[in-house]
Amino acid sequence: MKIAVLGHGTVGSGVAEILLDKKSSVSSSAGKEIELGAVLDIKKFDNLSYSDKFVSDFSKILDDPEIEIIAEAMGGIEPAFTYAKSALERGKNFVTSNKELVAEKGAKLLSIARAHNVNFLFEASVGGGIPLIRTLYSSLNAAGISEIAGILNGTTNYILTKMFRFGTDYESALSDAQNLGYAERDPSADVLGWDACRKISILSSLVWGKTLRPDEIPTEGIVNITSDDVSLAESCGFSIKLLARAKQLSDGKIFAKVSPALVKNDSPLSTVNDVFNAVLVRADTTGDVLLYGKGAGKLPTASAVVSDIIECAKTENNIKNLFWEDGAQSSASERDSVSERYFIRTSFDASSIIKDTETIGTNAYITSPITESELSVLKEKISEHGSLLSNIPLFE
Ligand code: HSE
Repeated sequence: MKIAVLGHGTVGSGVAEILLDKKSSVSSSAGKEIELGAVLDIKKFDNLSYSDKFVSDFSKILDDPEIEIIAEAMGGIEPAFTYAKSALERGKNFVTSNKELVAEKGAKLLSIARAHNVNFLFEASVGGGIPLIRTLYSSLNAAGISEIAGILNGTTNYILTKMFRFGTDYESALSDAQNLGYAERDPSADVLGWDACRKISILSSLVWGKTLRPDEIPTEGIVNITSDDVSLAESCGFSIKLLARAKQLSDGKIFAKVSPALVKNDSPLSTVNDVFNAVLVRADTTGDVLLYGKGAGKLPTASAVVSDIIECAKTENNIKNLFWEDGAQSSASERDSVSERYFIRTSFDASSIIKDTETIGTNAYITSPITESELSVLKEKISEHGSLLSNIPLFE
């Protein structure tokens, strides 16, 4: 069975490497010989053992009847969506590490795959090397999942870890993460939280069966986190993590958000450092389940792509329980049904304004549980007297 790889960047080259270096174990897991058939890239790579496989025209792959599985690692919506759609319509399996594609077009592509009895798989799109997607739709499909909270971006976790442990400044930590191949081509997708937002959108859509679009999820990155926040949090037994969260409310709607959060040192999420990711899944039958591993980087991500290739090779038909419907997932407009405590830092003594609070440092407080509307009112009151320097929810 021949495989085509679209894109020969960090992940695509890792996929080609694994297919060649581990050909016999991959083939034996798949139950048939798996062979790298073609690599699509506009650039030329002359010094590789598989340089003869490169093509620059997608139709060569689409029209080759021997290529039955296509693995995409180009990123971005187009041309990835057009390639995926035409491949599935031709009866080819399509696997991808492209979270933007899955978050925006997942329902559409899953439905085309179902109609043509082939598979659209995306294990590598969330959590890199963590076996997450398959665990959610297969092993935990009877668990009754009520909430997911994850550290889903390796770059920002790496940056925050360096700021905490070594007092490294933000810019040099980001540049290290870029050099290590963790960051997106445009790192603003990491530091502004969009990458984590796309990932929680995928997890939420998968777990609760309807599309939750990234633009329905309030998203804030780590760019406003200061060393004062870090040291105050640390002094009271918290770390700061970029958390992507989604929770099913009693009316079936989904409350989701991406933001920095204070995580108590006794939470398993607080020990997730460097490029590691973790997802805490809360379910009424299982209680908390923690999935942990490397969420970014060439080989962890490529290994997840190859696991999807093997899954496609083993599965004759469309996998029925990996599916969600298009149409609004109904992000909770009733955001006020959720109350959280907040870490607040102000430019002045605000103890008389912030009622029922714990003072944790000079002009630094932790509120009692309040809703987002109550937080807005509090912010307004604070701005009448001075500046609000930080407001970060606590994850409990
Ligand atoms: N830029 C992403 C991260 C890559 O840092 O987690 C993996 O999706």
